[in-house]
Amino acid sequence: MSVSIAIDGPAGAGKSTVARMVAGKLGYIYVDTGAMYRAMGLFFVRKGILPEDQAAMAEACEDADISIAYEGGQQQVFLNSENVTGLLRTEEAGKMASAISSCGAVREKLVALQQKLAASQNVVMDGRDIGTVVLPDADLKIFLTASVKTRAQRRFLELTQKGIPCNIKEIEADIEARDYQDSHRAISPLRQAKDAVLLDSSHITAEEAAARIIKLHGELA
Ligand code: DC
Repeated sequence: MSVSIAIDGPAGAGKSTVARMVAGKLGYIYVDTGAMYRAMGLFFVRKGILPEDQAAMAEACEDADISIAYEGGQQQVFLNSENVTGLLRTEEAGKMASAISSCGAVREKLVALQQKLAASQNVVMDGRDIGTVVLPDADLKIFLTASVKTRAQRRFLELTQKGIPCNIKEIEADIEARDYQDSHRAISPLRQAKDAVLLDSSHITAEEAAARIIKLHGELA
């Protein structure tokens, strides 16, 4: 039987950094489900389909083949055989992913892919609905969060270090808007699973958060 660790939480809480560390330490596969929604968002942008048009999204998503592979341990996302990994980490791609993720047909398709990945190998999977919908029987569920202020400061630092001009107030407003959108959609909204362990990373480092998860994993029966 394969082992799965589900890490859910709001945007910017450090899920991907922490999940990658945990997966590396345990020798598990890291599955970044947000990247799949981002790739699907890119597909709709290219098709000229707006996120308001649920019917068009539902119809078109049948033509989007999303798959993942690993190169040097890094997840690569393919959209109809094109490696689109390098196009997915922008603010626009994140906003688009959040907007299109309310579409039931999109979720159905990506959840099936995620469940298939976890069925055959040990995974650390991060997202918004992993512990609640994708892997309700995950061996360990973590809800990783941090205050809006902390998340905005981290994002500000990251962008400033990359030389990208930004405004902390705007970043805070964007984070609040995305939190609202992700936790208020009708299907699979972001919420903590009843049996998930809450981990607030506001005052701890990613290394400390990862160490706590590894410890919890070690305590599994
Ligand atoms: O984790 P991320 O920022 O890359 O995710 C981008 C968006 O995709 C997020 O705002 C909501 C959506 N998403 C989702 O609905 N369910 C997931 N399991 C992962 C992401």
